[in-house]
Order: sequence, then C-alpha cells, then structure tokens
Amino acid sequence: MLNKILEALHKKKDYVSGEEISQGFLISRQALWKYIHELRDLGYEIAAVPHLGYKLLASPDRLYSFEVKTGLDTRVMGRDIRYYETIPSTMDMAMQLGMQGEPEGLVVLSEAQTKGKGRLGRMWLSPKFKGIYFSLILRPDISPKETPILTLMAAVSVCQAVKNITGLAVDIKWPNDIMVNNKKAGGILTELNAETDKVFFVVIGIGINVNNDKKSLCEGAVSLKEYHKEPVNRAVLFREIMKRIEMNYDNLREYGGGDIIDFWKDHNITLGRRVKVLYQHKTIEGEAVDIDTEGALLLRNDSGFVERIVSGDIVHCR
Ligand code: BTN
Repeated sequence: MLNKILEALHKKKDYVSGEEISQGFLISRQALWKYIHELRDLGYEIAAVPHLGYKLLASPDRLYSFEVKTGLDTRVMGRDIRYYETIPSTMDMAMQLGMQGEPEGLVVLSEAQTKGKGRLGRMWLSPKFKGIYFSLILRPDISPKETPILTLMAAVSVCQAVKNITGLAVDIKWPNDIMVNNKKAGGILTELNAETDKVFFVVIGIGINVNNDKKSLCEGAVSLKEYHKEPVNRAVLFREIMKRIEMNYDNLREYGGGDIIDFWKDHNITLGRRVKVLYQHKTIEGEAVDIDTEGALLLRNDSGFVERIVSGDIVHCR
C-alpha cells in the first residue's frame, strides 16, 4: 500500500485529496493517515493541509522497495525486491533464495554490505547509502559454459543505464568492469547453481560506486558523483538498470547475444591494447584482439599464438 500511496503523491506533483486516495485504494481515512505517518517516519516529507490534502515535498535517499518500485517500468526484473539496510552480502542471500525456488527477476538489495564480494575473492567496499548493491536471480535455459554472456549483458545494461541517467561517458573493461575516465565505478559478479549441462539459476551481483566520497574508495576506483558533480539519484538509476537488463535479457533470449557483443565491443577499452592477464596461476601478456561469442577474451601473445581467456584479471599495459 505504501508504494501505491507514494505513486499517487508522486504523480500529482500537487495536493491530492485524502478522499481521492482513500477511495482510490479502498482504505479508510484513518488508515491513510497511518500510512502517511509511516512514510514520514521513513523520511518522506509530506505536507498535510485541511481541505487540500497531501503533497509530497521530498523523498529520502533510500532504496526502499516501494520507493524503487514507484515508476519501475519492467514486467519481471525487480518486481520483487528484498530490501536490507545492512547485510553481509546480497549474493549469499540471493543464492539462498534461488535455492528455495524464488523466481527470475527477484532482487536482493542492500544499502550496505559488511562482506561485499568482488571477483577473484576480492572484497567489494559497500558503504551505507552511498552505492547501489544488489543481486538478481535469473533462470535462463542454458548450459554453464554459456553464462559469461549474461555477465556481459549485465555490464552492457549498467553501462547504458549510467550513460542515460548521468550523461557520463561510460566504458567497459574486460570482462565487466564499469569504467569512467579509466577508473572503476562498478563491477559485476556472477554465481551459478548448476550441474554439468544445466543451469538451475544464476545470480548476477552488481555493485556501483554512486555517491561515494573519494576517501571511501579503493585506489583506482571512482564514484559517479565525482564526475557528475552532483549526487546521482540512486533510485532513478536502479530503475533504469532494471529496465535495461529486462530489454537486453529479452533480446538475448529471442535473438542471441549478437547485439550485446556489438554494444560491448563499441564501448570497451580493452580490445586493441596490450594487456597482462593473470589466468590459472600464470601471467600471459599480449594484445587483446577480440572477444568471442561467449565473451571470452582472445589474446595474441608475442609468438602470434591466440589464447582464449575465459576469466581472469587484466591489466592494461598501454
Ligand atoms: C567485481 O569485483 O568487479 C565485482 C563486484 C560485485 C559487487 C556486487 S555488490 C552486490 C553484490 N553483492 C556482493 O557481495 N557482490 C556483488
């Protein structure tokens, strides 16, 4: 009900009469008053004027599920959001929910993580109310070796969403680092529940440094705010990410990964460069020449031999 009331207040941009809201949602005026108080307690500034009704003056910078769902333009993605103020890692919770059979599109979102996980066993710093940290359950009908395209799909979606909302030039570093001005602003972690030939479900974890101050970032990292110059509305950005994921995922299932690979190639800063890759305990150096249809990096070493790198960590040499 909170999201319905919020939606009504958001829509009008002016006073909405209590009668209109309570009749519209079949609730009593007392119940409406209770909900208005609940929203105020959560940080919403709502004016109440006799004979005029209610007017939303300001919303808190929070990713409450009902806030995020107000204006969410998707069928499946993010329709069910499990919101936490703090959690060890949204990945673990989403894996658990996936195992319990929760459906595709469910999102576990937290304002902070105490044990945020990055790729290759790293940590993902997740300070409270500063970034966007969430994990999304997908149930594609694919085999485990086809999953890297989903990670690229997520990277492409984040890239498009950030660009749309902030106007910043966003690039992708292989495989899925979201880069602004050659610094990392976001990352994607994919975990699977699968057997040899069949994926049961995939959890895509996305972390974005949105409004972090410089001092709360690791070296080489950046927040969107730093270049956008003013704080970015996290709820608006989250909704756009959901919309883009839904569009790209639908497209992927219907037509294959061609469009995703094309977009990825157009926005990547890895191909054509000399890179060093730490892969299966050895370091390989060479030119990043391409990615294949499964998202693996094709690296030509100095003897001209092309190696296929499925995962790893790369450093751009020049
Ligand atoms: C990377 O190393 O680039 C991937 C970072 C992924 C971080 C996100 S934040 C939400 C989700 N929960 C986690 O613990 N990790 C992912």
